Amino acid sequence: MPIVSMQEILGHAFKERYGVPAFNIFNDLTLEAILAAAVEAHSPVIIQTSVKTVKSIGSNVLFGMWTEMTRNISVPVSLHLDHCPERAVISECLARGWNSVLFDASSMPVEENRRQTIEVVEEARRYHAGVEGEIEGIQGVEDGVGSDEASRRQSLDVALDFVRATGIDCFAPAIGNAHGMYKSEPKLDSQRVTDIVSAIPMPIALHGGTGLTEEQFKDLIARGCAKVNISTAVKMTYMQANLAFLRDAEAKNKWDPPSLFRAVSKDVKELALKHMHTFGSEGKAW
Ligand code: 13P
Repeated sequence: MPIVSMQEILGHAFKERYGVPAFNIFNDLTLEAILAAAVEAHSPVIIQTSVKTVKSIGSNVLFGMWTEMTRNISVPVSLHLDHCPERAVISECLARGWNSVLFDASSMPVEENRRQTIEVVEEARRYHAGVEGEIEGIQGVEDGVGSDEASRRQSLDVALDFVRATGIDCFAPAIGNAHGMYKSEPKLDSQRVTDIVSAIPMPIALHGGTGLTEEQFKDLIARGCAKVNISTAVKMTYMQANLAFLRDAEAKNKWDPPSLFRAVSKDVKELALKHMHTFGSEGKAW
């Protein structure tokens, strides 16, 4: 059974201290290329969709693509809804068959966030789905969600209390990480991951993967970051591969869409393979 819950895919990685790459896809090509990389690397993988992607493609078409492309796949895969502040979209994706959701109520006061996260966990359990939670916004706007302001860090006690009260399966703390390109070298509070995991052994989600160094990834994965999010790098690779191919096509006056798709797909797949290698998920499919 290749489609697995977030709890299972992360439970395995957390125990063995490797990172499951969670790539944001935005169309059929990126989905197909990343799944192909997972098969080639024999790696588990999480496929994430932003709310923007769900709305632009439609949850029915998106889920149809997912079902068809993962039919008979040989590695564990899981479908996740990334940063979603909208309860209606959460309900829609859970009912459709997504395996997990990130309820992003980080702009709400912690009390209200906690109250609503409990409801989301209850709803998700009806579908055997998982929930990722957060109490601080991850800096940077991604697909229209979030803020460029750094959000106020909550105390360790508040964070632990939130995790215990809500029963979430994965927690995404702010540790100085940010979505998008880092403007300067990020100073990461990796000790915060260790403090949380020491108190409650649970998988931590590392957001803002684009631009972190191999050393930073490895250190954070060893501390318990079992889910590692990569979005901007997929977008950049996709756009730059298109641009390079189209410039060449224009110079040669040769216009063949399937060759464009092959070239872009190759670059996206290579990016995914590189991350699977760094995160230690290569060869970990069960
Ligand atoms: P990047 O866009 O920085 O890779 O972050 C991805 C992410 O955390 C998605 O939630």
